[in-house]
Amino acid sequence: MRSSKYSIFTYASMIGVPALLMLILIAMISGYEMYINLFAYVLVIALLVFSTTGLIDVFLHKKYDGSMKKAHVESEIKSNTEPMLKKGSEVDIIVKRFNGSSHNFDKVTYKFFANKFTTVLDALLGIKSHQDSTLAVRCNCRMGICGSCGMVINGRPRLACETNIMEIADSEGGRIEISPMMGHLLLKDTVTEFTDFFERHKSVKPSLYRKNAKEKYSTTKEYQQSSEELDKFLPYSYCIMCGLCLDACPVVNSNPNFIGPQALSQSFRYYRDSRDQKGKRRLFEVDSNEGVWGCEFSGSCSKACPKGVDPATAIQLMKGELISRIAEKDDYAEKK
Ligand code: SF4
Ligand code: FES
Repeated sequence: MRSSKYSIFTYASMIGVPALLMLILIAMISGYEMYINLFAYVLVIALLVFSTTGLIDVFLHKKYDGSMKKAHVESEIKSNTEPMLKKGSEVDIIVKRFNGSSHNFDKVTYKFFANKFTTVLDALLGIKSHQDSTLAVRCNCRMGICGSCGMVINGRPRLACETNIMEIADSEGGRIEISPMMGHLLLKDTVTEFTDFFERHKSVKPSLYRKNAKEKYSTTKEYQQSSEELDKFLPYSYCIMCGLCLDACPVVNSNPNFIGPQALSQSFRYYRDSRDQKGKRRLFEVDSNEGVWGCEFSGSCSKACPKGVDPATAIQLMKGELISRIAEKDDYAEKK
């Protein structure tokens, strides 16, 4: 328990001064001049003593309070972090390693001490630094922005830098099993090849199309957009090209010609952008079995997406738009 912040003098002054004033008042009313003088002297002396001790008290209290605050914050930090660190434990991390020469994986189990904050990427980098330097891991931003650390963790495609070990160890049976994304070509261990993924992405021409191409490079012109117009495509522009949706898609894995959820969601993103002048041609370009009609709406792409892009919905909306434009489609085919 903390002791009282002021000394006894300060508290005494709170009672003593009003009491003396009362006595002076009573003496005045009763006509005792001698007592009035006596009380007045005592009052002046008491005021001097109390105000001096009060000032010292306040000064001391400020100093005391400042140092106490610091000590209090330090002890709070200590008591908050120590149990967290103590909560950590050794976790078995099983990595299905691809050695580059065959599709036979070597299952290697590493032991790693993880605490409350450890991500799968931290663990893999820790293992690479201190246990096995031959383990291949790809990463860059370590904060869910660059999209380069996608892998399959406990059977689900996820970003390693955004997957907390203790959380999945608690909820998914205490083990961490890591393998590369099988929807992409494998390079080594957890690292996959992305050339095919970027080709799919490029096939939908994911950039603003303007009839007058030169104006895009003008330094004085700007395209204005209302917030309602922005809202129409904004969620689809959050794609970080991590490839997790492609890996999760059962259709891509059985029909490699299907361009996949990432490319289609980006086609939709530009179709919805009021600054883009390609209009419905974007729709007709994906009006095929390799395009939107290849999607069987399993929804696993949207479930896997770490940025909430929701490619499954984008594809269904494109299907709806195409159905409502069947007549225009014939015109487009003729002009083509
Ligand atoms: S749509 Fe989502 S899961 Fe697919 S590549 Fe983009 S960010 Fe990754
Ligand atoms: S390291 Fe960049 S998204 Fe994981």
